Amino acid sequence: MYEVDRRYLLSALGSLTAAGLLPWRASAAEIRPRNLIADPRFPNPPFTLGVASGDPDAEGFVIWTRLAPLPLEPDGGMMMAPVLVAWEVAADPAFRQILQRGEAIAHPELAHSVHVELTGLAPARPYWYRFSCGGERSAAGRGATLPPAGAPLDRVRFAVAGCQHYEEGYYTAWRHIAAEPIDFVFHYGDYIYEGPDRGAQPRSPKQKPIVRRHLGHEIYAIGDYRQRYAQYKSDPDLQAAHAAAPWFVSFDDHEIDNNWAGDIDQDNTAPEVFRTRRAMAMQAYYEHMPLRRSSMPDGSHMQMYRGARFGDLMDAFFLDTRQYRSDQVYGDRDAAQGPDAFAPNRTITGAAQEAWLFKGLDRSKARWNLIAQQVCLMNLGYHKPGNPEQLVSMDQWSGYMDSRRRLLGHIDARCPGNVMTVSGDAHRHYAGDLIQDHGNGKIISSEYLATSISSGADGVGEDDDYTRSSRAENPHLKALTDRRGYVLCDVGRDLWRGDLKVLDTIATRDGTLSTHASFTCERGKPGLQPS
Ligand SMILES: [Fe+2]
Repeated sequence: MYEVDRRYLLSALGSLTAAGLLPWRASAAEIRPRNLIADPRFPNPPFTLGVASGDPDAEGFVIWTRLAPLPLEPDGGMMMAPVLVAWEVAADPAFRQILQRGEAIAHPELAHSVHVELTGLAPARPYWYRFSCGGERSAAGRGATLPPAGAPLDRVRFAVAGCQHYEEGYYTAWRHIAAEPIDFVFHYGDYIYEGPDRGAQPRSPKQKPIVRRHLGHEIYAIGDYRQRYAQYKSDPDLQAAHAAAPWFVSFDDHEIDNNWAGDIDQDNTAPEVFRTRRAMAMQAYYEHMPLRRSSMPDGSHMQMYRGARFGDLMDAFFLDTRQYRSDQVYGDRDAAQGPDAFAPNRTITGAAQEAWLFKGLDRSKARWNLIAQQVCLMNLGYHKPGNPEQLVSMDQWSGYMDSRRRLLGHIDARCPGNVMTVSGDAHRHYAGDLIQDHGNGKIISSEYLATSISSGADGVGEDDDYTRSSRAENPHLKALTDRRGYVLCDVGRDLWRGDLKVLDTIATRDGTLSTHASFTCERGKPGLQPS
């Protein structure tokens, strides 16, 4: 009887909405578990981890929250049962004009996270969303839909950021990103770090100074990962950046383990054992990110490479350079670029992702194409004092030269002059041009590698051997600095501008933001020009 009534009610609501008689649209109901708690009571307000939106398209985006009344306690202080959560989407920040309302279920299996995939919204405009549960209401977040693919668009702006070691500094950069007039954030990864609490006192002179401490030991089990996300996500500046704009997120290594590659970790753990850790880490990652259901992990794999289209202005390709890569060579140390780094049977993307990317670039009719990924694509060599060998990183594209040659060869042949790449992971700002291998070859594309939000503490600026050597040995590298911050991209019809934003300190919460360097690139003329 109830089922019949509900179906009748939904179809009646649908026709009323279609006729424009109702201001909001009812969402399709999720299957309700028998043990669902519809009106829970909490010891504290449950929305302690903020809200987020992500993966927008022209008709919607994901809205996210997680119920955690006691965020650092086991299970976030939640009862072990599914809980009903209400959500609403409005046309204005004061929620005067509610456009959609619905209910979602926060499952204990997914750490009481909520992922709602909104549909049916108008393109190219902002929306505001919020959740309520047990008489409590979340903060409001701001999301936005994209313009329809191919529609005329003059401008898109975004921030590139990542590497946010909680212990090494405050998230002042996120507070500034929250205030930037951007369309989206690309997070290239290292959202959490898996390492242990380092203790109040430095254990060695090389240890970076810390401003706050991780809870617990190195994280291995799903409860550990959940607690680590809860600790990071309790930060108000990070919450402000999530609430301000939709994000496209990707993971790098520290969401699971330092420098992992495919089934292999850095400690020589048996692959089948490492995969169990990877599965738990990926589940916790999904639980805490505004990702679509299509990215939900299936065991130890999750689908993370995906695209987005911004009108006729920009097609974006978000890559995953961790899950499908071959193991690093030369012991995963910075090493001379020997033949193993060029071996054609090694890959950083895997064949399927590479084919997807190349096909997408071939089909793109947009003015620009963005390749957004995790690790440095420039092939940068440097010398350590007293060591005659030129060294490159074996964890970046410089350790996967066959993949690199194929990608740059494809860009050069099929879409010259309209591809830009952004990346991160190296805890310094790098901006430069992309050429095949080394030397002074033809400029094919350019790269902005965004420095860290906090990893590396305050840094040393440009006054160190590594910077001097890198600048001297890589003429296509146009800027390099060891400071914390983010990259801002401002994409127009003919000009792509990039600003390297830096903070003077993250040891206190009141660091001052400035622009270290700015470049522009003209469509059709590859190469960064100082601006
Ligand atoms: Fe990092």
